[in-house]
Amino acid sequence: MKDIKQQFSKITISLHWSVALLMIALLAVGIYMTENKDYSLYGLHKSFGVIVLVLALSRVYWRMKNGWPQAAGNYKAWEHTLAHVVHWVLILGTLIMPVSGIVMSSMGGHNVPLFGIDLIPANHDPVNPQDTIARNAELGELAGEIHEIVGYLLIACIVLHIAGALKHHIVDKDGTLLRMKGKRIDIE
Ligand code: HEM
Ligand code: HEM
Repeated sequence: MKDIKQQFSKITISLHWSVALLMIALLAVGIYMTENKDYSLYGLHKSFGVIVLVLALSRVYWRMKNGWPQAAGNYKAWEHTLAHVVHWVLILGTLIMPVSGIVMSSMGGHNVPLFGIDLIPANHDPVNPQDTIARNAELGELAGEIHEIVGYLLIACIVLHIAGALKHHIVDKDGTLLRMKGKRIDIE
């Protein structure tokens, strides 16, 4: 038998599912609020995004310390490569999204809140305090472009990732999904 983990640690599992649910919700809310100019959602979007940054940094640390999980079955080389590339894009995306969001907001002169506390305050215009002044408009706009493009790239990768997880579960009938749900699995 290969040296493969039959069961994931509670940390791997709770980090995976908390980041996964928050990312899917933030992608949906981000697109909804931008399309509909629903500014009442911006504060919550930013606050939960900051939480993702903290969780994602712990996740990267965890991956560096423990390495990537090995596949729960025997697959073709291209399947391993695709899964690995998608895992990299997903994990990097969970860092790039909050960082670009924070840079976009703060450089655009807006605030970065954490549920009511301003981690970075808005840059109010001293003459018209209801208006804000960009701290660095070009950098803010560049970060906004990155936030949008990486957001859509992530949606495509998440679709592939979920399709892969379902293929393992339904077609290959292996323990990939069960292991990420915390179950101990048999490896042939
Ligand atoms: C309903 C949605 C999801 C399902 C069913 C799912 C399922 C899984 C499964 C079964 C694995 C284990 C793969 C293996 O053993 O090789 C896994 C790993 C992984 N997933 Fe997901 N996933 C979902 C959403 C997400 C989202 C939204 C992200 C990030 C944006 C994500 C990021 C990752 C990463 C980086 C790994 C590699 C292992 C790790 O770092 O913990 N997943 N996922
Ligand atoms: C961490 C995960 C995050 C995800 C997955 C995410 C996702 C998204 C998406 C998909 C959009 C729509 C982009 C568009 O159509 O232009 C958006 C918009 C936005 N996001 Fe995020 N975001 C995250 C974190 C953050 C953070 C931490 C901040 C700021 C602190 C932030 C600030 C914003 C703002 C201000 C907009 C609206 C941009 C506009 O009005 O053009 N986001 N987000």
